Order: sequence, then C-alpha cells, then structure tokens
Amino acid sequence: MEKKNIDWSSIGFSYMPTDYRYVSNFKDGKWDEGTLSTDPNIVLNECAGVLQYSQSVFEGLKAYTTEDGRIVTFRPDLNAERIAASAARLEMPVFPKERFIDAVNQVVKANAAWVPPYGSGATLYLRPYMFGSNAVIGVKPADEYQFRILTTPVGPYFKGGAKPITIRVSDFDRAAPCGTGNIKAGLNYAMSLHAIVDAHKQGFDENMYLDPKTRTKVEETGGANFIFVTKDGKVVTPKSDSILPSITRRSLIYVAKEYLGLEAEEREIYFDEVKDFAECGLCGTAAVISPVGKINDHGKEICFPSGMEKMGPVIQKLYDTLTGIQMGRIEAPEGWIHVIE
Ligand SMILES: Cc1ncc(COP(=O)(O)O)c(C=O)c1O
Repeated sequence: MEKKNIDWSSIGFSYMPTDYRYVSNFKDGKWDEGTLSTDPNIVLNECAGVLQYSQSVFEGLKAYTTEDGRIVTFRPDLNAERIAASAARLEMPVFPKERFIDAVNQVVKANAAWVPPYGSGATLYLRPYMFGSNAVIGVKPADEYQFRILTTPVGPYFKGGAKPITIRVSDFDRAAPCGTGNIKAGLNYAMSLHAIVDAHKQGFDENMYLDPKTRTKVEETGGANFIFVTKDGKVVTPKSDSILPSITRRSLIYVAKEYLGLEAEEREIYFDEVKDFAECGLCGTAAVISPVGKINDHGKEICFPSGMEKMGPVIQKLYDTLTGIQMGRIEAPEGWIHVIE
C-alpha cells in the first residue's frame, strides 16, 4: 500500500478528511451492521437531539506505525469502555465494546495510506463519536443515534522538543459537583471554550481547574489530567469524581510502578501542596506528557525546580518509557498494543 504524499512532519493538529469513515445507526432499539463511507458530511433534521440538547459523546485515540512497520492502536478497549460509560450517563445506547474495536480496525485498515510512517512523529488521530439524530423537541433522550469514527492525520505534538508550558489557575469551572466531568461529552468542552480563549488572551497555555465544590483541590485542564512528582521521587495524580479517567494517566501509573519501580499514587491533591512538588506534567493522548514549568495563581507564581527549558527527569523517564511501549521499542504489557491486521 502506497502512503499519501504528505510532508508528515509539517502537518499540525487540524482536520484533514481521509478516504473513509465508519458509520452505524441505532434505530428501533438496535444498531445496524455498520459500514465504511466516503462521505464526510452528515445531513440531520433541524430538530435533532444533538442540535437541541447536545446529546453527544466522543473519544480520541491514535493509530501509528511501530518500529517494525506494524500499524497499531493503543488500548482501544479502554476507549470502548469509556464511551460506553459516557453514553450511559447521557441516556444514550451503548455501542458494544467488540463492535467498537472492530470499527477501529476497519476504519484504520481502510485508511492505511493515511497512517504516517514510523519516525515521522505524526499519527492518524481517530475520533469515535455518537449523537442523538432524530427530532426531539421536549427535553428527553433521542430514540435514534449515529455512531461514527472519523480519522485525520495529525503532526508531531512537539516540534523541536517539548518545552514546558505556563498555566493559570482558572476562575471558571469545567465541571459541576456530581455532574458530567468524568465522561467525555461535548457539553464539557463547550463549557471550557470561554476559559481557554480567555487564558490564551492573558498569555497562558492552559487552565488548571480546581474542584468545583471547594476550589481547594487540583482537578485537570480542559484536555488532560495532571501528573506530579514529589521531591522524593514519588508520582502522584489527582483522584476526583469530576475528572476524565485519562487512559494515558492510568498507563503512566502502571509504567511508573511496574517499569520504573517508582511509588505512584492516585489521591486527592490540595492546591496548597503543589508548590512543594518537583515536577508537573499534563497527560493525554495528544502529547502523552506535556511538561508544566510554571503555574500562575492570580499573580502568584509557582515555578517548578525542573524549570522552563526541559522536562523534569522523572517525567522524561515516564514519557520515554510509555512512548517506547507505544512505538514497539519496549515490550508492552499484555493487551496494550492492538495490531491492525
Ligand atoms: C478533559 C480531558 N482530560 C483528560 C484527557 C486525557 O485522556 P486520555 O489520556 O484518555 O487521552 C482528555 C483527552 O482525552 C480530556 O479531554
């Protein structure tokens, strides 16, 4: 199979339609068999549930080429489980896990020419999503849904090395107590748009959200979980019911314990403790780990000892090990790497 003629290292993170997308419809209480489509457009009724009441959930994962030339995805079973939890919370039907994995397989295989080669740093981003598609005027769940997976090639997250970023403590909340912060629903991201635009205007790269109930504990950013390293080399990450259970974060905790022999703990983290940490990073599918050098709390700065030039040493080790596992350079735990055949 011949790859598309693209300068993989120079593309950014934006939508570029590929040849195929996966589509399955839910009607009369069941999912149809699903198909691959060449049509990137969706025609919807003006009163569709998604348009009126934002009934939509999504996922994000990547397909990439390993060192030995295989096309793989990373732990797609966890994306399947998470979108099922998201759907259940919004009263949507669950797209079965084995069908989700099969759909990932089909759509990546069909778009193999768009999967960037090993070493380019680029990947094929997969966006599974589901939405209420029939007309709904009273506030209630839709009866019909569409599940789709679109794919788009994305460039290397860090061009020319991972430079630490500066974030601010947000005065806006991203989630409500007992709300939907722990699922991947479009409505959470709509909530965060004003906060991120404002952060950028003020010269910050990201927002640190605190828990919406007491504003004393660290939650996450608009698109990544936090990971901290204590001065004695322990990895700690916030535990909260209102943050998204990041697949990268769960994988990093395992890597810290099982590959690097570090102590690692998921627990409530008070913002007051943050000034005493040695390293800070944001973890998620997009960057794996993005180092944080500085946090601005209403003018008061917390500067991590790791500085503004490079990742701290522990976060660097975590990053190298997890990316090594993903790229096939380090042996993966059973079931983490899903080969597209
Ligand atoms: C709000 C939020 N938190 C965390 C993450 C990181 O999750 P994952 O590691 O599964 O990509 C994401 C990205 O999906 C996100 O949108």
